[in-house]
Amino acid sequence: MTATPIPLPSALAASLRPLQLHDAVAWSAYLNRPGVIEHTSWGDISPAAIAALIGSYAENRDALRWAIVDTSGRLLGTVGLNEIARAHGRAELAYDLDPLHQGRGLATHAALAVMNWAHDALGLQRIQATVLDSNASSIAVLERIGMQREGILRQYRKVRGQARDYWMYAAVRTGQGTAVPRPSPHQST
Ligand SMILES: CC(C)(COP(=O)(O)OP(=O)(O)OC[C@H]1O[C@@H](n2cnc3c(N)ncnc32)[C@H](O)[C@@H]1OP(=O)(O)O)[C@@H](O)C(=O)NCCC(=O)NCCS
Repeated sequence: MTATPIPLPSALAASLRPLQLHDAVAWSAYLNRPGVIEHTSWGDISPAAIAALIGSYAENRDALRWAIVDTSGRLLGTVGLNEIARAHGRAELAYDLDPLHQGRGLATHAALAVMNWAHDALGLQRIQATVLDSNASSIAVLERIGMQREGILRQYRKVRGQARDYWMYAAVRTGQGTAVPRPSPHQST
């Protein structure tokens, strides 16, 4: 399975395409902007480490990553699925945005598009997300796409050496192909 192109609402003038090796410089550059990784467990975000990560997606059957790009192909952010467990019908959603392109719904629509794609194209019934308890903007994205907060994961992941608490969120498809809940974020076109 590859990260096939996915359209986003036309008002956003953006779309999802597979992440490519040449995206490493731009991805690393915005991750290194002040504050971007503060509420995440990102480790090495040097261009070399990010290039190696992109390279690993080609060999890894358990993860997919898309580039969120504008109409000229410029990288605005990324979105993906980690820990894809086909045997259990489950995957974990992840995303980030260049701070220059935050605040207009790109992450919400990209996350919703990938969540729906994972339900529909991959046939997964559970899409989950783990989010640092201090990451208010990411929590807002998860709640806008209709994920439900399931509980706290205490001391779940080390963030720059310190064990931190994470919320577990998920959207679960039930019965005959209906994702519950499956909302539309505002201002979709
Ligand atoms: C998490 C992250 C992607 C959220 O970015 P964001 O810009 O807040 O999210 P969106 O792109 O969905 O934009 C939402 C904002 O745009 C507004 N908005 C405007 N048009 C919108 C639309 N059509 N749809 C949804 N929201 C819209 C929302 O009201 C919201 O504004 P607010 O923050 O003032 O409430 C960003 O903070 C980030 O990259 N953080 C670092 C990496 C990270 O934490 N990743 C997640 C790890 S769990």
